[in-house]
Amino acid sequence: MADFVEVENLRRVFDVSKPWLNRVLEGSDRQLLRAVDGVSFGIAMGETFALVGESGSGKSTVARMVVGLLPPSSGEVRIAGISMTDPRATAERQRLRRRIQMVFQDPYASLNPRWRVDRIIAEPIQAFRLLRSEAEIRERVGELLGLVGLHPDDGSKYPHEFSGGQRQRIAIARALASDAEFIVCDEPTSALDVSVQAQILNLMRDLQDRLGLTYLFISHNLAVVRHMATRIGVMYLGRIVEISGGRELFSEPKHPYTRMLLDAVPDPAMTGRQRIAVRGEVPNPINPPSGCTFNPRCPFANERCREEIPALLGGVACHAVHEGRITVSEAA
Ligand SMILES: Nc1ncnc2c1ncn2[C@@H]1O[C@H](COP(=O)(O)OP(=O)(O)OP(=O)(O)O)[C@@H](O)[C@H]1O
Ligand code: SF4
Ligand SMILES: [Mg+2]
Repeated sequence: MADFVEVENLRRVFDVSKPWLNRVLEGSDRQLLRAVDGVSFGIAMGETFALVGESGSGKSTVARMVVGLLPPSSGEVRIAGISMTDPRATAERQRLRRRIQMVFQDPYASLNPRWRVDRIIAEPIQAFRLLRSEAEIRERVGELLGLVGLHPDDGSKYPHEFSGGQRQRIAIARALASDAEFIVCDEPTSALDVSVQAQILNLMRDLQDRLGLTYLFISHNLAVVRHMATRIGVMYLGRIVEISGGRELFSEPKHPYTRMLLDAVPDPAMTGRQRIAVRGEVPNPINPPSGCTFNPRCPFANERCREEIPALLGGVACHAVHEGRITVSEAA
């Protein structure tokens, strides 16, 4: 059976050119930024698929295309078999909207500050006409507040009366208000203190178990992803460079970039692994390196790496791994 969420060869190019007159006067060319360049993955129902990668790797751009907030330059997204991109599927997509929600990083910005919490949570219930009577809506809002660990009385307060963690609970209750099945979480806890982060992550896992939710979970933090994901895709400059089961990625990282990220995770259980010192920063995405875009930072780069883009084969996009120049055991 097809996955609940299917993402196929998704691409998104942004035109980041200077205005036309500047280009003419300065003699500069049109500039295109490939934010997402051929990303494919599937998410089974009830699973958590995580995308991890440094800032600018294209995670949020993928998320926005998956939920239909941003049209892709090419490629396709299907959720429950319905295309999010095909213009002919507009009516079906409309019916699907209720089932898909997004939770953002910044709970301060994502809640209307002038609305009481009960109105914030009731809004999707009313918008999708899930319940009609005032009493039913009030009861459902109280139930949702309880589900995310808040008190039903909290509904009469305003967002500013809550802490960051509590505000994220409100955002989650709002996402659940439309009976969502698939929730895209873009850095949902990275604005929060570490101890609060853990509470919210545990709440999300608990809700997943109780409600059978499917998550696309985005984070730059591997430790967080490890706690949440059944499968993980590692992104670098718009591409998935490694995709594997959550456990495998930590016990048998294959791609040099994944190894670099893991080396940065403070975890005593991972000592003993060969340390790869990877220097440098993420290159400018407007003018990325040729071949494998990781090559300027990679200790295993050779001539082929500078010329030929490695395909994602066996869950990893790396010539050295495909050629057997570096082995998995070397990383252990
Ligand atoms: N609307 C836009 N116009 C032009 N460039 C954009 C736009 N949105 C994103 N980009 C660029 O696309 C690339 C990917 O951005 P994106 O926000 O998806 O990365 P990210 O992995 O979510 O990063 P972060 O961890 O910082 O949130 C970046 O180089 C970014 O500058
Ligand atoms: S393809 Fe080459 S440069 Fe890219 S990660 Fe593999 S070894 Fe390094
Ligand atoms: Mg982002």
